[in-house]
Amino acid sequence: MPIPICDVSVHTAAVRPTHVPELDRVLDGGLVPGSVTLLAGEPGMGKSTLLLQALGSMADRGARCLLVTAEESAAQVRLRAERLGALASLLLVVSETSLPRVLAHVEEVRPDVLAVDSIQTVLDPDLPGTPGSVSQVRDCAYRLVQLAKERDLATVLVGHVTKEGTLAGPRVLEHVVDTVLSFDGDRGNSLRLLHALKHRFGATHGLGLFEMTDHGLVDVPDASSRFLVDRRAGAPGSAVAAVLEGTRPLLVEVQALVVPDCASPRRSAAGVDPSRLAMLLAVLDQHGGVETARSEVYASVAGGLRVTETGADLALALAVGSARRKQPVFEGTVAVGEIGLGGEVRAVAALDRRLDEAARLGFTRALAPPSARSRGHLEVVPVHDVSEALAYGLG
Ligand code: TYD
Ligand code: MG
Repeated sequence: MPIPICDVSVHTAAVRPTHVPELDRVLDGGLVPGSVTLLAGEPGMGKSTLLLQALGSMADRGARCLLVTAEESAAQVRLRAERLGALASLLLVVSETSLPRVLAHVEEVRPDVLAVDSIQTVLDPDLPGTPGSVSQVRDCAYRLVQLAKERDLATVLVGHVTKEGTLAGPRVLEHVVDTVLSFDGDRGNSLRLLHALKHRFGATHGLGLFEMTDHGLVDVPDASSRFLVDRRAGAPGSAVAAVLEGTRPLLVEVQALVVPDCASPRRSAAGVDPSRLAMLLAVLDQHGGVETARSEVYASVAGGLRVTETGADLALALAVGSARRKQPVFEGTVAVGEIGLGGEVRAVAALDRRLDEAARLGFTRALAPPSARSRGHLEVVPVHDVSEALAYGLG
């Protein structure tokens, strides 16, 4: 029956920290009892590892955890847990693919936290479809969502995606679950990025960073210095951007390579939006005197990060200008700002926090929109448009 809004009870179960700091940061505190979190990523990224570490640390602190492993044997999980230091007596493991039996195990064990690895490999024999088919994945997940609500159970489902995102699963589940975490990284690189694509109980867009080591995933709390570690300062085609990942300021290296006079010039963008790159190339051509129409242009963000905000425009433009003119960006210089179609440099959100982060990492000069103010040893060079930025930024 409908009731007055002020009589609605606001019983909210306490958030359950996983005690994996970077995971808790992205979850805005931890797992919410009664909610379902999907941990999605390509095979081999480290989803099972992250899950096992989180369950181990929760079990260590008194939470009853049930891990349903539908892909690996219990023995394999145990061996991995030994390696990860996740052997906790309150962490129960069962190798199981049948959904009804999973429900029965939950009934029997009455866990606080349930994890299913993976949702594509569990099957409800009473329903049509093979494991991993859209209808099986959706129906099994839906049943687990109901279970989570009935029992106030914090639930985590692992879901595999392919690079193209084609595999049934994560996409069809986004609407069914409360939280979607995406775990990505470059295969050749040990850095792993955790994003909240959807989060019903907190801020989305947070970023968690991990390094995959021989002992599992290790938190990377100082993200900026991690992203800049391989940088070759003084090389043309490289600029440092101060971007915002959620609420977190982050310094990243933006790289460009320009190959002039190609018969059929291509553009390639990794970690930056290709249409943003195309627009910046047009602006550089029209307002910056940087001609790339007949050049092949590659742009990328080092470390496998995807930059989706416009605060990196200025650094990207500088990197392209630097590559085209074969002049390096001045040492110790960071760039922040959006570029408009007229070539003008515009302010972006949280300018102060971005500049503070640059100052913290020892940068001494910042090319920034005119509204920015210098801080400490970081001198702000106000730039009004892209040609000023090239003039002040390249040496
Ligand atoms: P895994 O968690 O199995 O990935 P997913 O569940 O996403 O498919 O781990 C993937 C890779 O991580 C695997 O190739 C081995 C590597 N790994 C380490 O480097 N160190 C470790 O401690 C563990 C457990 C795995
Ligand atoms: Mg796995």
